[in-house]
Amino acid sequence: MLDIRLATSRTSSGAVAVVVPSGDPFSALDLLNPADLAEYEAFLEDVEHSGSAGTVHKLPRPGRKPSPLLFVGIGDGDEAGWRAAGAALTKSARAESGLRILVPHDTAPAALRALAEGLWLASYRFRLADAEPDPLRRVTIALEASDERTAALEQARAVVTATTLARDLTNMPSDRKTPAWFAKQVTKAAAGVAGLTVEVREPEYLREHGFNAILTVGQGAAAGRGPRLVELSWKPRGAKLHVVLIGKGITFDTGGVCIKPLAGMKLMRKDMGGAAAVIGATLAAAAMRLPVRITALAPLAENALGGDSMRPGDVVTHYGGITSEILNTDAEGRLVLGDAMAYAVRRLRPDVLIDLATLTGAQGVALGKRTAAMYSHSDTLAGDLAAAAEACGESVWRMPLSEDYAQEIRGELTDIINSTDIGAGSLLAALYLREFTGPLREHWAHFDMSSPAWADSADGELAKGATGWGVRTLTRWLETTAA
Ligand code: BES
Ligand code: MN
Ligand code: ZN
Repeated sequence: MLDIRLATSRTSSGAVAVVVPSGDPFSALDLLNPADLAEYEAFLEDVEHSGSAGTVHKLPRPGRKPSPLLFVGIGDGDEAGWRAAGAALTKSARAESGLRILVPHDTAPAALRALAEGLWLASYRFRLADAEPDPLRRVTIALEASDERTAALEQARAVVTATTLARDLTNMPSDRKTPAWFAKQVTKAAAGVAGLTVEVREPEYLREHGFNAILTVGQGAAAGRGPRLVELSWKPRGAKLHVVLIGKGITFDTGGVCIKPLAGMKLMRKDMGGAAAVIGATLAAAAMRLPVRITALAPLAENALGGDSMRPGDVVTHYGGITSEILNTDAEGRLVLGDAMAYAVRRLRPDVLIDLATLTGAQGVALGKRTAAMYSHSDTLAGDLAAAAEACGESVWRMPLSEDYAQEIRGELTDIINSTDIGAGSLLAALYLREFTGPLREHWAHFDMSSPAWADSADGELAKGATGWGVRTLTRWLETTAA
């Protein structure tokens, strides 16, 4: 992780950056040496720097100090603008030996947090083994330290550390990423934050306690690659609210007997992105010591193809008793989530239930690469979650839980069926999950984040590959809910 610190003294070597607001680009010059003003002014005019968020212009000044000097736009100066500026700077200054960022003296803590998040998130790179780090190791932000500012940087660090973990887990190839491996990573990460506890349930426990759908989805996997249920708990003293976060944890999705074509399968190591995000958000909340009780559940299984795999037409009894006919073995996410949700509702009895899942290809068809589908019956919960997403730089769009379609998931032999052929795939998957909300139906939100979980190319604060989508939205929502 980049070393980001607050310091007013000019000790660091390397590049200097100065932030440029779009309303008044020349105000940036107040932060620079008056002796060189004419040169800078001419440069800004020359390159037509408008201050738009994330735009960087580099003024090389060989043999002079500072060299180079980077001008970076912060747009309107909202969080998104500062985040974009941070992301753009990390990329532009990657090869520099250091970076010092000049910002106005009255820069708000929220802006500082967004700047740091952008710097850190965009500097992420997935590596299988230790590799040469980028030359840029240290960034100083030219502000005097204060309690508020230090706290803002610590909040950014907590969110970024958690997002980095979620990205690492999701990027990891599935030959290594078994359910047991994922569970072990959670145990390791939780050991680094005081007050977190982890329970890992193995197949024997799952059988004894009726988690049949998790077992059924995982039954085709090879020896040593069987399913797990991870429960990560943060239980601060005096917490009034209990939130359960559930994430789909399919460590690889071949589609099973209803096998996917290569094009649809080759990225299916990301099919545990929901589980990674809920684990990440819980770690971030604990690192921030938020006064809200959180239980994260990750039902983990590999949807493999083999002689032991579930078949179309098989029938499973979920935890809690709801029966389901498996009409498509590729609709496996809702099966494992159903067990975990029923368990949460019956045994954990939370106040709020939120699940995240790379659940359907239909989500990407409807909303594309950046925007997740959000489903909830609660206007308040949906509104709060949308506001959190907006503030932290993730994008969501609320979709309907259309009652018209609710009868489409009813079965002939069973309570429900896991697949239909009427289209509206993301919505029908949400209606399936709704069956498991019990008394929490009005206190439940579901995110289908299939496409946003992965970036095909680096974009803003997103590195190519896993994005860690959801860590930021959930953490921000938990922060505001706890406040
Ligand atoms: N993991 C997939 C959904 C997915 C697709 C995630 C593309 C990310 C990118 C899920 O398990 C799946 O296969 N869903 C099916 C459901 C269908 C069989 C009802 C789908 O969307 O086609
Ligand atoms: Mn599938
Ligand atoms: Zn899947």
